[in-house]
Amino acid sequence: MGSRAPHLLALAALCSSVHGNDLPLSMESFIRVVQRIEGRDPGPSPLTVVRSLRGVAYQGDTFVEYFLGDSDSFPSGKDEAPMWDPTLSEFIHLTVRHRVTGQAREEGVVLGSDGTTVALGSLLLGIEAGLVAGAGESVSGLYSLTIARNLGLSFLRSQDSQILGPDGCWDNVTFPTVFTLSGPPSLATDALINGGMDGVLLGKYLSTHALHDLKLSTVLRDYYGPHPGGAPEGPRLVSFQRRGNFRQLVNGLVLQELILGSLATLQRLGKAENTAGAAALEDVVKGGVQEFVHRYLECPAIIPRCQWGARPYRGSPTQLKLPLAFMYIHHTSTPRQPCLSFPQCTADMRAMQRFHQDVRHWDDIGYSFVAGSDGYIYEGRGWRWRGAHTRGNNSRGYGIAFIGNYTGTLPARRSLELIRESLASCGVTGGQLTRNFTWHGHRQLVNTTCPGGALYLEIKSWKQFRSRDQAARHH
Ligand SMILES: *[C@@H]1O[C@H](CO)[C@@H](O)[C@H](O)[C@H]1NC(C)=O
Ligand SMILES: *[C@@H]1O[C@H](CO)[C@@H](O)[C@H](O)[C@H]1NC(C)=O
Ligand SMILES: *[C@@H]1O[C@H](CO)[C@@H](O)[C@H](O)[C@H]1NC(C)=O
Ligand SMILES: *[C@@H]1O[C@H](CO)[C@@H](O)[C@H](O)[C@H]1NC(C)=O
Ligand SMILES: *[C@@H]1O[C@H](CO)[C@@H](O)[C@H](O)[C@H]1NC(C)=O
Repeated sequence: MGSRAPHLLALAALCSSVHGNDLPLSMESFIRVVQRIEGRDPGPSPLTVVRSLRGVAYQGDTFVEYFLGDSDSFPSGKDEAPMWDPTLSEFIHLTVRHRVTGQAREEGVVLGSDGTTVALGSLLLGIEAGLVAGAGESVSGLYSLTIARNLGLSFLRSQDSQILGPDGCWDNVTFPTVFTLSGPPSLATDALINGGMDGVLLGKYLSTHALHDLKLSTVLRDYYGPHPGGAPEGPRLVSFQRRGNFRQLVNGLVLQELILGSLATLQRLGKAENTAGAAALEDVVKGGVQEFVHRYLECPAIIPRCQWGARPYRGSPTQLKLPLAFMYIHHTSTPRQPCLSFPQCTADMRAMQRFHQDVRHWDDIGYSFVAGSDGYIYEGRGWRWRGAHTRGNNSRGYGIAFIGNYTGTLPARRSLELIRESLASCGVTGGQLTRNFTWHGHRQLVNTTCPGGALYLEIKSWKQFRSRDQAARHH
């Protein structure tokens, strides 16, 4: 890229207020850098921008070039490669080129304003594929480029190691600089999967909405937020709905075919050896897809403890005897307001944990899981450890709290659905909940008004709600 010096000076002026070395590794700073690269009207087109970023992320990757062509060839003569200020180079390399170093540090990823981590390379390939198709050329390989290759290679490599994940933890979520994986890495980490799903979703969108005067930075900001005033309701193309939106596009069978197709292409290009026979390969992929569907499509994304700044558990936790048969619904009452953003929800989680540990003298935050109104569930004690939520019955069920006071109003519709649909079916297929588990309000077991009149009325309409009378008849 160094040979295209003329643009450098023009952009250097624009970039002078952004110094790559001081930037946090967040989606927000990446979007700002893209904005700088796009410059003022008429700047380079989105296709030009993503193609030159690909030159950094996937230099010499024949699989990528098989679908998208050479990253040095630009759509038209007038629209040549944009250049960026050298102070941005380090930031761009660190955020778009994916690798996992020896210390389980994952690079090529950024923290989104919704609290999830995204591999930018996979995202940008999906956007490029979509833009090429939107520009009238046919493109194949949207899934292969973004997610199917990574999943296929991960399934093939892992005999006894991890086939998917893990998630990880940022050193500091207000100023993220280092992302450390929370377990042995697979070739399909959570960040690669998030970036891959987003790449498919945005690629599909861009392939059918060839917008005029479209800027890449605008597309990214609409998708990733932050969304001031809270996350939008309803079905939308936004990051916190990636799993639901992705689920609309593929099922296990389709995904299996896509992955087998990607592996066949890799093999044709001489990039993958298939030592196993075709039937064995299909079995490996089928098994991997099953696991993928469970973990990433059936289960909701759960923000792990490290991401909300949890203190350690005090003492030694008690392991639950699984599966459990009850889900106990709570509202937090304090905090009274629903939380609408990652910073607000994580602050609420920390405040509740402080209160439970320091004032109540419990070992940890009491709840098993907590639902924010930002589109996410937050990990409390999780699936394995006994909580402190429903006196007398803590070993028998999970305590699920909605942040807010639901005496007179209801939580956001999507938060209710996340718990009622996603978390519950995740627990059932994951073996933590019995198939015939039942929902209960905290007030059915303890003398309390929790979970608030309005929320209690709501859960009474849920299919597996069980009233006290019904429960008594069974015991
Ligand atoms: C995270 O970074 C911010 C901004 O630099 C700083 O104010 C804060 O103290 C840091 N937090 C931790 C836990 O280090
Ligand atoms: C609560 O615990 C009691 C035993 O103490 C048990 O009989 C009952 O089934 C439990 N009820 C629910 C709804 O979990
Ligand atoms: C919760 O809201 C109700 C009214 O809807 C109010 O009476 C009650 O005081 C509130 N509780 C708290 C802890 O703020
Ligand atoms: C749930 O199903 C199991 C067997 O699958 C049965 O033993 C148990 O009694 C059932 N529980 C309820 C509450 O119906
Ligand atoms: C339930 O709690 C309320 C208020 O804390 C109290 O007045 C009432 O006597 C309690 N009822 C029982 C059955 O303990």
